[in-house]
Amino acid sequence: MEITVVLSQENETLPKAELLSRLETLDIKYTILNEYPGIIELDVGATWEDIVELGSHLGYTHEILKTISKTTPEKLEESIEDIDWTKYVTDSFKVRVKRMGGGDVDKDKIERNIGGFIKQKSNMPVSLDDAICTIKLIYTNPEQVVNEYKEVSIKKYNKVIISQLIIEQDKKHFFDNKPHKRPYFHPGSMSPKLALCMVNLAHVHNNDTVLDPFCGTGGILIEAGILNTKLIGSDIEKHMYEGSKLNLAHEGFEDFKIMWEDVRKLELDETVDAVAMDPPYGISTTLGGDNTKELYHEALIAISNYLKDDGYICMASPHYIDLNEVVEGTSLKINQQHAIRMHKSLTRIITVLSKK
Ligand SMILES: C[S@@+](CC[C@H](N)C(=O)[O-])C[C@H]1O[C@@H](n2cnc3c(N)ncnc32)[C@H](O)[C@@H]1O
Repeated sequence: MEITVVLSQENETLPKAELLSRLETLDIKYTILNEYPGIIELDVGATWEDIVELGSHLGYTHEILKTISKTTPEKLEESIEDIDWTKYVTDSFKVRVKRMGGGDVDKDKIERNIGGFIKQKSNMPVSLDDAICTIKLIYTNPEQVVNEYKEVSIKKYNKVIISQLIIEQDKKHFFDNKPHKRPYFHPGSMSPKLALCMVNLAHVHNNDTVLDPFCGTGGILIEAGILNTKLIGSDIEKHMYEGSKLNLAHEGFEDFKIMWEDVRKLELDETVDAVAMDPPYGISTTLGGDNTKELYHEALIAISNYLKDDGYICMASPHYIDLNEVVEGTSLKINQQHAIRMHKSLTRIITVLSKK
């Protein structure tokens, strides 16, 4: 089936990388058909249920839709008339226009007109509040113009994707799961969205064993735990060790083991399928991050002893530490890296590693 994915545009590379990584984890074969800002069109060997599973555990994907047809704004009405709507609309429905980048489109008029047409053809009622089926007209492939002040705006759209919503992001999950709402909070806690993305980049499957050896308040383990995984964590600080246990229990997880331990002395009695971690950033760039680099290097050696051969590590680090140097002399290689600009003097690098 062909699908259209609406990605978050808050980062240039992470949303797509997370999506593709999760497709691989779920063993869904895919071909990328087209890409536009915030949009990726794919052909996938998957059922509707597979796509619901895919979409229900992604941090940077807003919506996944079944592609019904593709057209241009000029030919929209004609294309809408060519579709057998009884195949798609079998219950109450609504039509929504989505303009990628907010270009000038008469949203209300199009929604009203196309909604009226589909109502007539499908014989189903329109429901704006609790429609079972949402038909989305996604205006994309924009043609941009730059004015004399170098401001960019959309002159026109060259494509409309006629689609049916399969799944949209549960924003409530990220809202309810904000770190300061947990029983134990510490300012260094990672945002649930990034934690989830890192879990996905580490290719975590249902029922895997997942390790975060710098677990802090447990933010990464919480996102991994949603996949029914066995969770292993450690932290050198006693209050973090106790706090993360409190947070994991509060989420209702039972299958977890947290240790009060320095990662360099890590001893496990089992191997792990995946590692996701956010080690400390060290004290200052002026020291060249030497101590931090050493800690990362030793941590990777300790962890790789327990990582299964086909497992992945996803780690966050500051831009001033060169991970190529860190992995030297380990059994690991870097697969991909993504940058997240935090502020003027800090960019976080998200790296995915696997065994050589
Ligand atoms: C950036 S924080 C992790 C935050 C975590 N992702 C969260 O959401 O709360 C890094 C953590 O690593 C721990 N840590 C520092 N050095 C360590 C070591 N050698 N072994 C294990 N944990 C360590 C710190 O106590 C801190 O809790």
